[in-house]
Amino acid sequence: MCAVEVAPAIGTDRLILRRPVISDAGELCQLANDLGVAGMLSTMPYPYAPKHADEFLARAPNWREPNFAIEHREFGFMGMIGFSEKQPGRLEIGYWLGRPFWGRGYATEALMAALSWMKTDWRRNVVWAGHFTDNRASGQVLVKAGFLYTGDVELRDCAARGEKVPSRMMVWLA
Ligand SMILES: CC(C)(COP(=O)(O)OP(=O)(O)OC[C@H]1O[C@@H](n2cnc3c(N)ncnc32)[C@H](O)[C@@H]1OP(=O)(O)O)[C@@H](O)C(=O)NCCC(=O)NCCS
Repeated sequence: MCAVEVAPAIGTDRLILRRPVISDAGELCQLANDLGVAGMLSTMPYPYAPKHADEFLARAPNWREPNFAIEHREFGFMGMIGFSEKQPGRLEIGYWLGRPFWGRGYATEALMAALSWMKTDWRRNVVWAGHFTDNRASGQVLVKAGFLYTGDVELRDCAARGEKVPSRMMVWLA
């Protein structure tokens, strides 16, 4: 299956998407311990403790789908982007960046690089994404990368908020 060897480093002008490593734990914990981040994601816990980062990174070699740390060439670890198969055959992509890095086009740059790799190297040609209806910034990132709204709204878990949140579903075709 898709073990970490299918997650090589991907370079962009400003970023490197690479395999996460245990030594990312400190920065991961610091950036993830933010309700503005965790509250926009399905499974990220909040508060985010060092043990969450350690456990998450220890599982990385066993992930079935490719997941990348997003590293800035100058500033280091910034967040994560990765694929998951929540339902068989239905690939989804998700991502987050730490708050200090918002608003500079980094998420769009990382997403477009991951999509290009998915199409060219992984040879997958369709991927879904969903953003909570109150996360317009992520919707804009997805639109800029070429995703289209399907019209579906799904209730998705949000661990950090402790409730289900409506998510607008989108799809990207290679
Ligand atoms: C959502 C997130 C990934 C965006 O990262 P980013 O690097 O700031 O995104 P970009 O700079 O590439 O693009 C953001 C776009 O959203 C727009 N935007 C920002 N806030 C907005 C808002 N409240 N309403 C509408 N658009 C908004 C920006 O103007 C920009 O669009 P533009 O380039 O057309 O002007 C980042 O804020 C984040 O990680 N948030 C927490 C986790 C998360 O939401 N993950 C996604 C889950 S679906």
